[in-house]
Amino acid sequence: MNADVAYQQCINPDCGARFDCGFAAGGFKCPKCGELMDTQYNWDKVKLPKKLSEFGQRWANRNNPLDFSGVWRFRELLNFCDDEYKVTIGEGQTVLQQNDAVAKYADMKSGCLFLQYEGLNPSGSFKDNGMTAAFSHAKMIGAKSCVCASTGNTSASMALYAHSCGLKSTVFIGSGRIAFGKLSQAMDYGSQTIQIAGDFDDCMRQVQDVSTKLGLYLLNSLNPFRLEGQKTIMYRIIEQMGWEMPDWIVVPGGNLGNSSAFGKAFSELKQLGLIKRIPRMAIINAAGADTLTELVNNKKLVWDNGKVNQKIIGDYYADLTARNFSPHTCASAIEISRPVNLKKCLRAIDVCNGVVRAVTDEQIVDAKAVIGKFGLGCEPASAATIAGLKILRAEGEISSDERVACVLTGHALKDPNVTVNYHKEKQGEFSNPPIEAPNNLDEIIKLIS
Ligand code: F0G
Repeated sequence: MNADVAYQQCINPDCGARFDCGFAAGGFKCPKCGELMDTQYNWDKVKLPKKLSEFGQRWANRNNPLDFSGVWRFRELLNFCDDEYKVTIGEGQTVLQQNDAVAKYADMKSGCLFLQYEGLNPSGSFKDNGMTAAFSHAKMIGAKSCVCASTGNTSASMALYAHSCGLKSTVFIGSGRIAFGKLSQAMDYGSQTIQIAGDFDDCMRQVQDVSTKLGLYLLNSLNPFRLEGQKTIMYRIIEQMGWEMPDWIVVPGGNLGNSSAFGKAFSELKQLGLIKRIPRMAIINAAGADTLTELVNNKKLVWDNGKVNQKIIGDYYADLTARNFSPHTCASAIEISRPVNLKKCLRAIDVCNGVVRAVTDEQIVDAKAVIGKFGLGCEPASAATIAGLKILRAEGEISSDERVACVLTGHALKDPNVTVNYHKEKQGEFSNPPIEAPNNLDEIIKLIS
């Protein structure tokens, strides 16, 4: 354990309690005050490269699995465990695609829009960046059995890493709330799959109690080691932009782990003198699951140096409960109304001068079809980024010549139902329905345009 280098710390400035990295009980919440915790580093004890580009040189050494990994290539920036514990299955071989056709759709100038396709990860979503880090921590502390609540991708990724490193795994999913591609993965990768009669927020509540009661290692993004791995998505965007910073990062917002991790990544790089400027961040909710948008834009909730106004959050959640509210969106990955990383996300908004918007399901499925037609495709939640960018362009918040990187968080095949329904049922402007043809050559030829 890198005990002299890394530690966990409560994010509540009135508490700030520190624990060593061996601690994993209580769903990773601070045992003193119950707040979220960070993984932090004594940076003066870390041997860092002078320039970020030195990390990229490791690619030449890709027969070493840790140099091949798009996460561990940056290992000094997430230096919480020794190499002997590090788990890797080749995550992070993702691409940043400059895409002018999608740029045009979002009213951006040519050369200004970049799509970071995290669907290329082994389990088909960005989650693998986090799991490789969290499972390394799990191995380091000797965990034998793990658990998560999920809208699908966390469960797929956890199941894959769990069997890869010999841990038993159990996933909690909301019954009927998960896309089939993801459910099939959890079962196929051998996880015990428990379908709870409730939504993701219900599963999240249950899993925290279960993990505490049974001492199971928790792999939701409450786990600060998972978020350390997710920081590397930002490093790889900068790497693929020739070590230059984009002006904006656009990311879907669900449980708010990514946005939190990205803010931490940038604030550390700046503190370490490895970057000069922090990009702005846009976090995009689905309109049917827009807690962050409501709290930030309407209730004016802010980080305020860690003194977040708990009453605003409490009142908002009490109202959700009173209305018996359950979130609904076709982007099932982000169908979440009580995001566990809310406070860390507020911190990230503060660090990145961030903005928050919500997009409708119609905007999401149209944007998804455009990304499919002109890009590498993605699942609905990922397409919220382009839908959100289009809104931010229309508002003038983002200029057409700023350089924008959108994180496409999940693979196009994760949720075939939404895609097929959009095209077959002619739900939108970009629908491309199949054409019925008789089994006759002349008739078939007539139909080919
Ligand atoms: N995009 C995809 C494809 C996701 O699966 C998720 C979250 C998000 C975006 C939102 O990311 O939580 O960091 O804000 N999926 C989780 C899951 C909740 O269980 O798979 P976030």
